[in-house]
Amino acid sequence: MGELGFSWCSVLAVFSLVLNAAVFCNGGITSTFVRKVEKTVDMPLDSDVFSVPPGYNAPQQVHITQGDHVGKGVIVSWVTVDEPGSNIVLYWSDNSKQKNKAKGTTVTYKFYNYTSGYIHHCTIKNLKFNTKYYYEVGIGHTIRTFWFTTPPEVGPDVPYTFGLIGDLGQSYDSNKTLTHYELNPTKGKTLLFMGDLSYADNYPNHDNVRWDTWGRFIERSAAYQPWIWTAGNHEIDFAPEIGETKPFKPYTHRYHVPYKASNSTAPFWYSIKRASAYIIVLSSYSAYGKYTPQYKWLEKELPKVNRSETPWLIVLMHSPWYNSYNYHYMEGETMRVMYEPWFVQYKVDVVFAGHVHAYERSERVSNVAYNIVNGICIPASDQSAPVYITIGDGGNLEGLATNMTEPQPKYSAFREASFGHAVFDIKNRTHAYYSWHRNQDGYAVEADSMWFFNRFWHPVDDSTSAQS
Ligand SMILES: *[C@@H]1O[C@H](CO)[C@@H](O)[C@H](O)[C@H]1NC(C)=O
Ligand SMILES: *[C@@H]1O[C@H](CO)[C@@H](O)[C@H](O)[C@H]1NC(C)=O
Ligand SMILES: *[C@@H]1O[C@H](CO)[C@@H](O)[C@H](O)[C@H]1NC(C)=O
Ligand SMILES: *[C@@H]1O[C@H](CO)[C@@H](O)[C@H](O)[C@H]1NC(C)=O
Ligand SMILES: *[C@@H]1O[C@H](CO)[C@@H](O)[C@H](O)[C@H]1NC(C)=O
Ligand SMILES: *[C@@H]1O[C@H](CO)[C@@H](O)[C@H](O)[C@H]1NC(C)=O
Ligand SMILES: [Fe+2]
Repeated sequence: MGELGFSWCSVLAVFSLVLNAAVFCNGGITSTFVRKVEKTVDMPLDSDVFSVPPGYNAPQQVHITQGDHVGKGVIVSWVTVDEPGSNIVLYWSDNSKQKNKAKGTTVTYKFYNYTSGYIHHCTIKNLKFNTKYYYEVGIGHTIRTFWFTTPPEVGPDVPYTFGLIGDLGQSYDSNKTLTHYELNPTKGKTLLFMGDLSYADNYPNHDNVRWDTWGRFIERSAAYQPWIWTAGNHEIDFAPEIGETKPFKPYTHRYHVPYKASNSTAPFWYSIKRASAYIIVLSSYSAYGKYTPQYKWLEKELPKVNRSETPWLIVLMHSPWYNSYNYHYMEGETMRVMYEPWFVQYKVDVVFAGHVHAYERSERVSNVAYNIVNGICIPASDQSAPVYITIGDGGNLEGLATNMTEPQPKYSAFREASFGHAVFDIKNRTHAYYSWHRNQDGYAVEADSMWFFNRFWHPVDDSTSAQS
């Protein structure tokens, strides 16, 4: 139906006011975009994107993430395979030739019959804001040099641009998604990743070689800008049939996050401030019920967010709460029941999730009135509620989720089963421009977009249907 169906819906709504009759009105837009049907397959082990850097003990799988609470720290991680080698990161700012030194740690792990390389993590602290730094790893053998730019100091009107990718995997489509993100003219400065990284667990014995190939694949972006990690179900790697009973073993050894800086007790839920945003990462696969560590942490965390300092309150999780596809239906429901009243109370601006391999954006709705006996259980328009965006369309080997519930629920503003990425471009304390880009289009083409009005500073109706 697309645009046509949508405007008919509005016309019917007007008629229903005039006639005072109940006219059933479907939700927003189900895109009519037709993509070529092709199988999503993983890139073979000898692909260019998986190539091992040359040189003895050369660092590979280099990636960075934020290393403290405010953006003056960076965690640098890399893998060496011939021998442990040096833990040192040398770094210097653009306008200085004085090299500084930070020392990290090395870990290894075994998974069934796989033994990892030497995984290094090194936290660099007390960097200057808004500064380009070069860094070197592989000291003593094969040195490789990369660079990153620290964010501006935390403040209410600092513009900043986040990229958004979920459920990436390592298929040919994953490579297209990453390429489109890199070539999007609205340059993302930090990537928010909504979980499900390598999909190594889809291979026999969770072949952890596919964790290594994934690390080499994303290096071209993740070594130069921080990727902010969320744990997905494909990070659990719980495989008692082969004796692997410690959940999240490969993920926690390979991908460190600064959880202690936000007083979290586990790497699966934590927060960071970056420029004008406060980002809370939650875990769909850790206990979240009342009295649990995650619940207690979030209960104390939300009141700490100072919107005069960080106007934009963004939450990341893997399993979506609002999802109108026939995949993973209601899997996010129990967490929604626990935390949604807080999201409304604290006026979260937007929630990004993955898991469903498709794209969907909701209206601002909440479903918090239900109390078992009152029967009030329909998502209702709520200007204090976040917009929920599902962006699990990174392109992994499991393919697209194409089967949608019909009719499109009223709360669903736009949905389409295509691979892609998005960008959240914060302009100031009141406005942020959001756009979603499908892989089939040119790099600048926006297949869905929305001006976000900040819920604290400018809580005006920003729904795309309200404006049309
Ligand atoms: C691990 O075991 C599988 C089958 O059980 C085998 O195909 C593979 O070669 C083994 N890998 C290593 C590193 O020994
Ligand atoms: C992945 O994408 C990059 C950048 O577009 C390209 O150079 C490379 O050949 C692609 N690799 C595969 C295996 O598709
Ligand atoms: C963590 O807890 C300490 C001690 O209670 C407190 O000083 C600090 O501000 C807290 N940090 C954050 C980011 O909440
Ligand atoms: C919130 O942040 C503003 C701006 O940085 C600051 O002036 C104010 O004191 C903070 N409020 C609290 C309660 O910390
Ligand atoms: C879509 O999902 C529904 C509900 O699970 C199922 O009944 C239906 O057969 C599915 N349709 C297709 C085309 O797979
Ligand atoms: C905030 O950004 C929006 C969009 O660019 C602009 O229209 C608005 O005037 C800006 N507000 C301020 C106070 O500069
Ligand atoms: Fe998932």
